[in-house]
Amino acid sequence: MCGIVAYTGPGDAVPILTEGLARLEYRGYDSAGLAVVGRSGDLRVRKAEGRVAALAASLPARFKGGTGIGHTRWATHGEPSDDNAHPHVAGSVAVVHNGIIENADELRAKLEADGVVLTSDTDTEVLPHLIARSDAAELEDAVREALSQIVGTYGIAVVDTRHPGVLVVARNGSPVVLGIGEKEMYAASDVAALVRYTRQVVHLDDGELATIRPDGFRTSTLDARTTRKEPSVIETEDAAYDAEGYTHFMRKEIHEQPAAVERALRGRLDGRFHTAHLGGLDLDPREARAIRRVKILGCGSAYYAGQVGAQLIEELARIPADAEPASEFRYRNPVVEADTLYIAVSQSGETYDTLAAVQELRRKGGRVLGVVNAVGSAIARECDGGVYLHAGPEIAVASTKAYTSTAVVFALLALHLGRIHDLSPADGRRIAEGLRALPGQIEEILRQEDRIAALAADLAKYRSMLFVGRVRGWPVAREGAQKLKEVSYIHAEAYPASELKHGPLALISPDLPAVAIVPDDELLDKNRSTLGEIRARHGRVITIGHTEAGEDAVVVPKNEPELDAILLPIPLQLLAYHAAVALGHDVDKPRNLAKSVTVD
Ligand code: G6P
Repeated sequence: MCGIVAYTGPGDAVPILTEGLARLEYRGYDSAGLAVVGRSGDLRVRKAEGRVAALAASLPARFKGGTGIGHTRWATHGEPSDDNAHPHVAGSVAVVHNGIIENADELRAKLEADGVVLTSDTDTEVLPHLIARSDAAELEDAVREALSQIVGTYGIAVVDTRHPGVLVVARNGSPVVLGIGEKEMYAASDVAALVRYTRQVVHLDDGELATIRPDGFRTSTLDARTTRKEPSVIETEDAAYDAEGYTHFMRKEIHEQPAAVERALRGRLDGRFHTAHLGGLDLDPREARAIRRVKILGCGSAYYAGQVGAQLIEELARIPADAEPASEFRYRNPVVEADTLYIAVSQSGETYDTLAAVQELRRKGGRVLGVVNAVGSAIARECDGGVYLHAGPEIAVASTKAYTSTAVVFALLALHLGRIHDLSPADGRRIAEGLRALPGQIEEILRQEDRIAALAADLAKYRSMLFVGRVRGWPVAREGAQKLKEVSYIHAEAYPASELKHGPLALISPDLPAVAIVPDDELLDKNRSTLGEIRARHGRVITIGHTEAGEDAVVVPKNEPELDAILLPIPLQLLAYHAAVALGHDVDKPRNLAKSVTVD
């Protein structure tokens, strides 16, 4: 979704802003823009629909300045266009904004009644006008006044030629992080835009704003109380944001999975008690024993990984567990129970639906843990405790390594809860050994990439595909269908294998291939009879499992049956990726999708 970058210092802001915006491209956008305060105190603005590179190439050599803001926009109010692109300007003030101003219509009407001519269809444009109309001596106070009139969510960055060298940023529901340099300062909506320049960052909290000058910053609340912030250090290497020779980030991230899983496991398995240690849980054994139910919340792939997690917790810890889309949960006035453990899953830690579900839970006194990849993100900070994935930045919109690492973290959590409940030491050891074997087994699957790519190129000719799985295979089928839809745009529907005869069997024909998840577990015979039902109706079946053989079969290494749902999706990631490549799609930035959906 939208991205913000800002800079103030002795250098030229322009290359820093364009480079930063390029780093945010992965989030999805339709237009981009910059505003800089030139050394002579004038405001220079350039914005256009289209790519950051095109904007950068169109800038005249004199387009320079020591303080500036940049933006990538993902249209919400008003279509993608040059006028609707940010920054928005009023007199000496320029603003970039992520989020949604809910009372924008009302504010626009008031401004227009006062004779202000608005030039875009955006909600954002009211902001620079409100700021420019303030009599406050300090920019920070003018921004504060403007924000007090706004209902909605925002991450903003503001410059004003009347205050050269000063940036004001603020956050409410949309992330803002400050980057501390040597006599220069940065701000952005995502650390990805900063890592090239600095490792020292400060995450703003909701309701906080900051005045930034080249030599430092000051943070305060919306009601002007000073806040104290401790900088933290970004651990991610800058190279993690480069495709490093891969044609696409999605393929790079699929191949990073052995290392990502190793990082998720590192230091967390206990060989003495055959359990797992998860430092951030903040749950003593007595509290863990008191948990009567586990409810997992997430969106998209995070939800499907949560469904895998629920199954692992039920199987290993025998605690009733289920997963639900956070986007549904937050709207249905859920019953919140004191002895239920709620777990929010999010790669980005910024998905608004998931964040809102967490906030609703906290408001009702629920205990919420986060299973999150992005360190210091909003969801991670909103939760009572949690577990980081340490998967490294995931740039491709379609989640691969974060999905797998989430499933691994849930296996660790299920092992931990299981060993507090009734899981025997022998079973604990069996699961721990299974987990240790995963990275090597993922390598084995990745070695089959050429074969899977050929299969994918052939499957790309179909308009629609069915994905079926039973029990442990069911969330795998759902994730497989999600991946295919996201990047190849082939219609894909997942069904529990057991439900096939209750409806979708009517669809089976040579034109609708079915991808079937068939692990060698206690349900193998049942699954084989489902395959028979499809084949009897001349449906093509592609199997992902341990035992089936043939041209349309992908065989994955066997691990413990409880862990099957971790390895089985990996061939499906490759299938989706190579189908999308065969169809010539923009794999890393699928149409209509954004990496992190930070709006309602
Ligand atoms: C978007 C993406 C999905 C992703 C979901 C959750 O909808 O298109 O691919 O799974 O967000 O993202 P999160 O960052 O919360 O895991």
